Amino acid sequence: MAASKFTRGILHKPRWRISENQVTPEAVFNDRRAIIKALGLGAVGASLPGHVQAGLFDLFGQSEAQDPFVTKKLDFSQNQAFKADDILTPESKVISHNNFYEFGTSKTDPIENAQAFKVEPWQLKIDGLVDKPLTLDLQDLTTSLPLEERIYRLRCVEAWSMVIPWVGYSLGSLLKQVGIKAGATHVAFETLYDPEQMPGQKSRLMGGGIHYPYVEGLTIEEAMNELSFLAVGLYGKTLPPQNGAPIRLVVPWKYGFKSIKSIVRIRVMDKQPPTSWNQLAPQEYGFYANVNPEVDHPRWSQATERRIGEGGLFSAKRIATLPFNGYQEEVAGLYNNLDLRRNY
Ligand code: MTE
Repeated sequence: MAASKFTRGILHKPRWRISENQVTPEAVFNDRRAIIKALGLGAVGASLPGHVQAGLFDLFGQSEAQDPFVTKKLDFSQNQAFKADDILTPESKVISHNNFYEFGTSKTDPIENAQAFKVEPWQLKIDGLVDKPLTLDLQDLTTSLPLEERIYRLRCVEAWSMVIPWVGYSLGSLLKQVGIKAGATHVAFETLYDPEQMPGQKSRLMGGGIHYPYVEGLTIEEAMNELSFLAVGLYGKTLPPQNGAPIRLVVPWKYGFKSIKSIVRIRVMDKQPPTSWNQLAPQEYGFYANVNPEVDHPRWSQATERRIGEGGLFSAKRIATLPFNGYQEEVAGLYNNLDLRRNY
């Protein structure tokens, strides 16, 4: 098992951990306008931390997307923040350009169709090969483990990407609480199945042909890697429904479809679980789905990606895609004995 890798991450400050003086004050989330006033307009474009840049971009570059779903401010420890050097994707883009096929297949369907989504009552069950099975309700999701913020790149298999400040905790910290039994090899995840609330689950056309509930999986070593994260919020607030409220997985070195939303069950297993996109099109979407610029999708190149929110309307910015989405130092060791062309 990857216990040694996990320990290594804790003992040594990871290269992507942000130092405290680089962290944007929490207030930027609470009152961006006040911050900008305090900074003065002259500060626009100066070398500000990512959050502030994104906030400015939101205010002056884009119109804020209307998001009637009520999100709540979260308390999280700033000094545990993780960093990507990249500029944050404006919040308005993060919450309005989504893949959540339960609410439709176009990028704007989720924000349009998910606003009435009910997250209360919610139950997340953690069971299978564990010592102490656990059920968490909505409140437990944000209170049973200390929250931290992590800024991760998210690279979709469709060759677009974003940079998102998530709030949550490592998947490993939750799995440690329940205790993993000997013989466990994989972890399976399942999204809520509720066709009354999720119209894509009722109609094959609207739901993109996926067999619901949406399911995903990781090896136990991947699940225990320090980067594997359960997000309960973004931009300092609870997740809006279109981003996977009330809790979703974030696996930043894998294509976005591994980052399953609105999870109701986490099951520790002794075999590889089925996964939704692999079931739908196995020749296009593998179980591993590690971001890999050298292995193209059968229908398009994976060498570059479009950064959502960067570049103008007519000049979408394309950048080189990095192996493991730039997290190779942290995770490449998990795949030493694996042919990543065959195991895409
Ligand atoms: N989870 C569920 N349940 N249903 C989905 O359709 N789409 C995936 C993933 N998680 C999806 C899902 C895909 S393809 C991507 S790229 C990411 O969610 C997008 O996350 P975002 O909308 O928060 O950017």
